[in-house]
Formats: sequence, C-alpha cells, structure tokens
Amino acid sequence: MIIAVDGPTASGKGTVAKALATHYGLPHLDTGLLYRAVGWQCARNGGNPDDPAAAFAATSFTDALLVEDELRSEATGGLASRVSVHPAVRQALFDRQRAFALQAGGAVLDGRDIGTVIAPEATAKLFVTASVEARAERRWKEMQGRGEDHSLATIEDDLRRRDERDRTRAEAPLLPAADAVILDTSALDRAAAISAAIALVEQARR
Ligand code: DC
Repeated sequence: MIIAVDGPTASGKGTVAKALATHYGLPHLDTGLLYRAVGWQCARNGGNPDDPAAAFAATSFTDALLVEDELRSEATGGLASRVSVHPAVRQALFDRQRAFALQAGGAVLDGRDIGTVIAPEATAKLFVTASVEARAERRWKEMQGRGEDHSLATIEDDLRRRDERDRTRAEAPLLPAADAVILDTSALDRAAAISAAIALVEQARR
C-alpha cells in the first residue's frame, strides 16, 4: 500500500503522513527534507540556489545531513523551494523517492508531487491543505517554541511567496492529483486531522 500525502507548507501534511505511517505500520519519507538538504548544501557550497548547475551539484549531499536541525528552519525551506524548480534537481532525487515508494509492504511519502509524479499508482492520495492564515499561525507557534522570533505578517508573506513558487513552477508544480482527495485542516486540530485522514485512506482502500 502506497499512501501519497501532498500539500503546501504547514498544511499539516507531515503530521498526517507520520500518523498514517504509525497507524498502518509503514515506513515514512518526508521528501521535503531531501529538497531542504539540497538547498542547504548549495548554500554551504557558496552556490546560488537559482542557478541550475549549482543546485544540481548540491544533490550529492550525504545522508548524515538529513538529521541536521538547520534543515528544519524557515530559511532552509526557502532555499529548498528555490532549488526544487530545477528539473535536474528533481530528476536527481527521483530514483531515491521512487525506490522508497516501491519497497515491499508499502510506504507513506509526503511532499508536493507524490501523487502526480513519484507514485501516480498510489493506493490513497491525500492533498492536505489549509488557509494561509491558519498555516502562518501554526508556523508562528512552532517558531516561537523553537525560540525563533518572527512576526506573523512576515511568516504569512513568506508562505504566500513559497506557495506561489511551488504552484507555478513548470516541473511538477504543487497541484492535487486528479484522483486525490482534499483534506482541509484549517478548522481541525491534530487529532481531528489524523482521524479524517485515516477515514479517507480507508475509503480509498475499499
Ligand atoms: O515540505 P517542505 O516545506 O519541507 O518542502 C520544502 C520545499 O521543497 C518546498 O517549498 C518545495 C520543495 N518540495 C518539492 O518541490 N517537492 C517535494 N516532493 C517536496 C518538497
């Protein structure tokens, strides 16, 4: 069973994907982390994330990088969004994601293009979304918890910019697959979002 969970930043897709993986006893891959690693490595190499060659050169990051806290920062998320527009970067990360999706027993993957590009044959495809205001508020609370002090307005602007870039890029834009079910978490707390996601997966399996 392959479960594809796509959606914009701070929509709750990561929480939902992790909970689905635990519920069904499946391994989980946060594919955004791979793009974050490329963005971070590119910056560390002194490269420009908007330059396709510099971004591609950063795809040879080592797995040890994936556990670094810095990958989770807002700044790295912005770099990830910039390197992710380059087709060569997406191609370089494709095999790894595809192999994860196809492992025996199945898997849960979350990202932007899991249901459309990485695993179009997925058993269940969820597109998790929420209003930009709800997402900004969640991100703001998370950042407060980490001691990062940014205004709500700055976070909201940044989310809008990132959504726009992810949605309008030519290659694998952030779009629900035609057969995805939409889960809007704007008015749902964590527990409600998880139960709704499990109910949608059960529906897809029938
Ligand atoms: O989900 P996230 O915020 O960690 O993702 C960071 C960026 O990586 C996001 O703005 C776009 C890119 N990304 C992508 O293009 N495709 C994916 N499957 C996952 C992330």
